[in-house]
Amino acid sequence: MGKRFHRRDLTAPALLARVAPLFPPPVKGLPLNQQTLSMRLERVAAHVPLGARLADIGSDHAYLPVVLMRRGMIAAAVAGEVAPTPFQAAQRNVNDNDLRSHISVRLADGLAAIRPEDAISAITLCGMGGETIRDIFNSGKARLSGHERLILQPNGGEQPLRQWLMDNGYRIVCEEVLHEDRFDYEIIVAERAAEPLTYSAEELYFGPVQLQERSPAFLQKWRRRLLQRQKTLSQFTHAQQALPQAKVQAISQEVQWISELLG
Ligand SMILES: C[S@@+](CC[C@H](N)C(=O)[O-])C[C@H]1O[C@@H](n2cnc3c(N)ncnc32)[C@H](O)[C@@H]1O
Repeated sequence: MGKRFHRRDLTAPALLARVAPLFPPPVKGLPLNQQTLSMRLERVAAHVPLGARLADIGSDHAYLPVVLMRRGMIAAAVAGEVAPTPFQAAQRNVNDNDLRSHISVRLADGLAAIRPEDAISAITLCGMGGETIRDIFNSGKARLSGHERLILQPNGGEQPLRQWLMDNGYRIVCEEVLHEDRFDYEIIVAERAAEPLTYSAEELYFGPVQLQERSPAFLQKWRRRLLQRQKTLSQFTHAQQALPQAKVQAISQEVQWISELLG
């Protein structure tokens, strides 16, 4: 038996040397997007632990579990979809890749796709609003064992999602921002914490890990956001009709936080 290894123990080149032989060659006749991932999903994939039993909720075409399975990076997967058309697309993709015995495609609302016997160790929820992801977790709480790594890629609504994670005993262990096709995407990785923890209002807004790391992509995102928010505030100033004070205050608070962040 080969020595067990964990991805986080290896440097990137060493990891690539270990897994590269597992990457299957492209399959003739299959569209390229069934075999490769967008940079956004590629970065999500990088946080899925090697050998995980993955539940990809809101899987659409099941691109993520199919590619991870074809690369030999996960042991099994559930692809959950609430809508019939993407559910059928996921079934087709899994069938075309001959992965029916490894990936279960289920038509289900949120975490209802997960069964105890799946022994899921990682959950991905990507490409939906942060509030939607929060609501999916909230209504499916009973299906979480607490041992799953959550890998989330919200399209906006990061703040309420982080709030839910904090309120439900999760620690944010990793975060990143990436810019692709004119959009800034955030990835939030969380695991159940041993002790309850509290994040400040700024940490919930910017992300506790990102605030510490201040990556170039993160700072770029907030430079762009500051310009947008300043523009909104100036439009408010010139608006003819009265505006809700709470909204003006919320945007002013954002402008203040972002300005402080960027110095
Ligand atoms: C924009 S797609 C994202 C697909 C893929 N996860 C990605 O990131 O590329 C969002 C998908 O989530 C599905 N979805 C939305 N709410 C859901 C829910 N409550 N349960 C399962 N799937 C859901 C939608 O039907 C849609 O196919």
